Amino acid sequence: MARPVGPPKPRHYLMCRPTYFAVEYAINPWMDPAAGVDRERALRQWEALRDLYRGLGHQVAEIMPIEGLPDMVFAANGALVVDGRVYGARFASAERTPEGPAYLDWFRTAGYTETREPKHVNEGEGDFITLDDVVLAATGFRTEAAAHLEAERFLDRPVVTLQLVDPRFYHLDTALFPLSGDRVAYYPGAFSAGSQRVLRSLYPDALIATEEDAAVLGLNAVCDGRNVVIAAEATALADRLRGLGYAVHPVELDELRKAGGGAKCCTLELRGIRP
Ligand code: ARG
Repeated sequence: MARPVGPPKPRHYLMCRPTYFAVEYAINPWMDPAAGVDRERALRQWEALRDLYRGLGHQVAEIMPIEGLPDMVFAANGALVVDGRVYGARFASAERTPEGPAYLDWFRTAGYTETREPKHVNEGEGDFITLDDVVLAATGFRTEAAAHLEAERFLDRPVVTLQLVDPRFYHLDTALFPLSGDRVAYYPGAFSAGSQRVLRSLYPDALIATEEDAAVLGLNAVCDGRNVVIAAEATALADRLRGLGYAVHPVELDELRKAGGGAKCCTLELRGIRP
């Protein structure tokens, strides 16, 4: 991790306003339908995140939220977009299933011509992380390993399969985030012993996060190469990032964390040629 931090690269993101956000069912250990949420607060926190991205020079498009889909705010799960190709999502839970076609419709309407309806269960960028040389893909809780091959063929990028083992970190983006195209931060305990070996050999100079960092969804962060947008509670991880030369932007997203999501979950990156 001694290498200097690179320049920030402008990004294009797709987000979904939490107009209908709620915790009405429990599909991960963070969700407690009895606890309730403050939707107004969720909206304010989400708007602050969107405005922060814009302030950092990124472009943010918005997909229209749909009533009855309380988790649609977690746009990262809506698809995986690489080189302008859109690999659609197919959700593991019945509750979120309608989000897959809803996101694909957005892409088709926006003029994307290379879109793929997936055969296999996959939750988009929640379980696929795109780096320069490989796409890291997780299985274990949501995305099926068969979807990794499907994505590899459709996107024409090598995909590396990783196994998640801790139900708190049910999506890959809760356990690992890219700092640049070839360096990552992750919490080893979220992965099987074999996958920890894979990560060690691929990223020997990774930033290794602690369980405390991960337990506040500190790894559900978004980095543009220099700026890191990260959960405000992840103070120790933030300090280490600052020490490495990153510009850290803490965000309060505790209302959305009641559904198990953070900054990255709210953010789908649109990579490559856009129509
Ligand atoms: N409640 C949502 C679910 O369990 C949260 C999704 C968070 N998204 C993510 N990319 N990790 O599906």
